[in-house]
Amino acid sequence: MTERLYAGDVFSDLAPVWKDDPDRGARIARRVVRNARVGGRVLDVGCGTGFVLKNIRAEAAARGKRLGKVVGIDLADGMVDRASLRRGVRALTGDALALPFIDQAFDVVVATDVVRFVDDPERFVRELFRVTMPGGTIVIELVARKNGTRVRTRGLPRESLLRQFVALRRSYGVADVTKTLEELGCEVAEWLGRSRPVDHDPEFLARIARWSGTPQDQTVARRLRTMHPARARSPRSMVLVARVPGPRTGSMPIRVRDLPGWTPARVERVLSGLPMATGYEVVVKPLRYKKHPHVAAYCEFNAKRITIQVPVPFRAFSEPVPYRAKRLRKPRRGKMRFRWYWRMLRFERPDELIRYLYLHEYYHWYLREIRGKRSAAETACDRFALQQLGRGR
Ligand SMILES: C[S@@+](CC[C@H](N)C(=O)[O-])C[C@H]1O[C@@H](n2cnc3c(N)ncnc32)[C@H](O)[C@@H]1O
Repeated sequence: MTERLYAGDVFSDLAPVWKDDPDRGARIARRVVRNARVGGRVLDVGCGTGFVLKNIRAEAAARGKRLGKVVGIDLADGMVDRASLRRGVRALTGDALALPFIDQAFDVVVATDVVRFVDDPERFVRELFRVTMPGGTIVIELVARKNGTRVRTRGLPRESLLRQFVALRRSYGVADVTKTLEELGCEVAEWLGRSRPVDHDPEFLARIARWSGTPQDQTVARRLRTMHPARARSPRSMVLVARVPGPRTGSMPIRVRDLPGWTPARVERVLSGLPMATGYEVVVKPLRYKKHPHVAAYCEFNAKRITIQVPVPFRAFSEPVPYRAKRLRKPRRGKMRFRWYWRMLRFERPDELIRYLYLHEYYHWYLREIRGKRSAAETACDRFALQQLGRGR
């Protein structure tokens, strides 16, 4: 019977002896920072000990490029604990196959040497795509299993960490990963990386065996230590850099109508750091309300226009925003019933209102133009706008 191993447990146990490769971290970080926008957010999936994240921070500082949130996620608590010990590194526990982030939350998503440990590489790639914004970049470093250092694990007990680690490594096809990215519309560039995977170093494998601590592991460790590194066949990594289709380099003309003190340049400043609804025009105009100021905006797909209305005269106001609807089990008189979840948003200045309304309408644009969906999803748009409000600020 084959053992069912949980990568999170195995990597948590391995975390104390996991070895970083600073050269590799620096090389990947250069690529990530080069592709990130100023204020852009970066996610490292399967971040391990967080050394790639640390290098990204250092590289951005060296280039004088200000980044937004830089965060790592890993299935193994032990790895997350190690990563969190690094100054300036934020990491959390989570599964790459169900990332706890909304769509398009990041400018650059990086995953180094993770694919060979996940159950479903296609779903993994689709998740990375989902959380990357249009025009953003996905960097995937792949390490091939075949031709690697062979370790004979026969005779090692079940609790041997070396045995578990070796059993976790799976094969996958570089062509399949590329195909999934291309099916999603990405433009993919392939690079033969200079890095050698850490576990192709017999000394590293010996270290895992010693850490396992069983007598059988000690024997394997001694054998591995006498193995000359040159004899261990070491494949190079492959780095895929995928450009997500979308509007990063596109344009979005802005028009302001009858709003004293407002110009297109000012609206552009207010919207800076937010994703662009390329191909659409943004019109900002007054809302002549009767009694109280309120929100008003719409996205016209035929006219390719997003219109945002600013109450005139502007007075600070609050607006309840529904961000979730839960269907209740019992219908009433044959009609479905919902429980609504609300958040009260207060708009003190027109800037905040314009950002919020733009994000809401942008998500309509995204669902229609990028996802090809026809129906309006008001709560999804509100949820997106609420979550993205602080972006790029
Ligand atoms: C070989 S290590 C690579 C760590 C780091 N990215 C690097 O380049 O050194 C693989 C990492 O992927 C993590 N991992 C494996 N499956 C995962 C999953 N489903 N979700 C998130 N992380 C996962 C492991 O916990 C481990 O830290």
